[in-house]
Amino acid sequence: MRKLIFILFLLTVSCKTKMAAPSGMVTHKAMVVSARSEASKIGANILARGGNAFDAMIATELALAVAYPYAGNISGGGFMVYRLNDGKTGALDYREKAPLAATRNMYLDASGKVIPGKSWFGATATAVPGTIAGIFEVHKKFGSLPFSTLIQPAIDLAQKGVIITHKQDSTIKYYKKQILKVSGSNNFFAKDIKEKDTVRFTQLANTLERIKNNGRDEFYNGTTARLLVNFVQSKGGYITMEDLQKYEAKWRDPVEFRYKKLKIISMSPPSSGGITLGQIMKMIEPYNISKYGHNQAKTIQLITEAERRAYADRNYFLGDPDFVEIPTAKLLDKSYLKSRMSGFTFKQPTLSSSVSHGNIEIVESDETTHYSIVDPFGNAVSVTTTVNGAYGSKLYCDELGIFLNNEMDDFSSKPGTPNMFGLIGAKANRIEPEKRMLSSMTPTIVEKNGKLWMVVGTPGGSTIITSVLQTILNVYEFKMSMQEAVNAPRFHHQWLPDDIKMEPGRFSKKVKEELTKLGYKINEHNSRIIGKVDAILVRRNGSLEAGADKRGDDTAAGF
Ligand code: GLY
Repeated sequence: MRKLIFILFLLTVSCKTKMAAPSGMVTHKAMVVSARSEASKIGANILARGGNAFDAMIATELALAVAYPYAGNISGGGFMVYRLNDGKTGALDYREKAPLAATRNMYLDASGKVIPGKSWFGATATAVPGTIAGIFEVHKKFGSLPFSTLIQPAIDLAQKGVIITHKQDSTIKYYKKQILKVSGSNNFFAKDIKEKDTVRFTQLANTLERIKNNGRDEFYNGTTARLLVNFVQSKGGYITMEDLQKYEAKWRDPVEFRYKKLKIISMSPPSSGGITLGQIMKMIEPYNISKYGHNQAKTIQLITEAERRAYADRNYFLGDPDFVEIPTAKLLDKSYLKSRMSGFTFKQPTLSSSVSHGNIEIVESDETTHYSIVDPFGNAVSVTTTVNGAYGSKLYCDELGIFLNNEMDDFSSKPGTPNMFGLIGAKANRIEPEKRMLSSMTPTIVEKNGKLWMVVGTPGGSTIITSVLQTILNVYEFKMSMQEAVNAPRFHHQWLPDDIKMEPGRFSKKVKEELTKLGYKINEHNSRIIGKVDAILVRRNGSLEAGADKRGDDTAAGF
């Protein structure tokens, strides 16, 4: 008996030491974490009114379209991964599509060279938007409150106005020249917008009001559709009424795999997120990474080598599953991944030039935005949404109050040639009419011992996948609280360029010296921040801890 009590005591002590005290906001029933406090509060308020996670998703997505034009949108696209309280999982793909008029060489000149900027700036870069189709699809399948209730807070916010934050002030200033160049000097964003100003988005409020009154068709076959098509075509773009009428969001099976005691549920193609995350996690799984220590040289080395191999596969194999055959099972197969790691040794780096497949070079960006939601019923949604670049194509349509996306740049304009992000694509992601372009967005939900454990995701281009990875490992392997895991310094490797990007000044000299001595190149120059993770951790006692990334204005709200 004494022995049993002693064992129980030891177990209690060890359990206690394993659980970091929360350092982020804690609530007991429900939570929304997003890039803007207005959006998190609007989402949480819908939950407080009895709405479920899907109702809150719609309200949050629309609120971000108003409060965060940098990446929030009704003119872009995204992905949602969900887990219901009974454990059922699923995913929605509301990624943009290439217009019917798209051709493989549409961004090449007569001599076959990529025309600089054509897939990046202005109407020629714009793909058929999916966001409105996405939220109506969510409402049809899972919504419990009337759509008008879910869109009204965004309309009110647009009319009442958004207070410009310090960080927003900086980004508007940073991109203003480009916006003026593309949209002209009379457009809405040409006026002097600065910190603490209240900016009212009246035209956007009108667009949202019409969507409230006329439903999904307003955007894909109504007044808004006609205004959008006329505007895009007047600026030399390709979208037609037929493109809008044919757009459909698609329910997909998420990518699911195990990592030790965790089950990871993440986004399937046309996002590369789930498969690449799975490959990296399965390659590091056999190693006792927690023993190596958080952000220690051995840990960084192991993760780097797994990332190198996974990113080499990424662009060679992945694209829109409706157009290309993707060997998902093989890519996530244990013995395949073991063979990928067979040349790995802690003694020296593997040269990227000796790792086959793909010709990929990606430079990260911190555009795009992510939000995580858990409702009082135990349902969870993880959503990443984007207009691709910051303020999309920089083309603002005053009449509709929206920036147009530049998602066409996520295709490989010319296999073998870098796009504006330095991404050199392969055939699997070449342009075809009605095809969805490859994404890195990685909205993810994690179960531990069969129960909801974490909801996580981030913006950050190619660094999305590795930021999600590090956040999960920080809590699971390195026993951090949710907020600590989000705060922790991040690094990134993506096969090419063959360097380890690190958030500047956040890694110890000793670790950098150890890695350099082994032959790794450290790059602290072009990654001021890596990712802006918004996550929720379900703690053992059922409470929810937020990880809201202070690299941005990201905020949690809940009750
Ligand atoms: N446009 C960013 C992404 O889809 O990954």
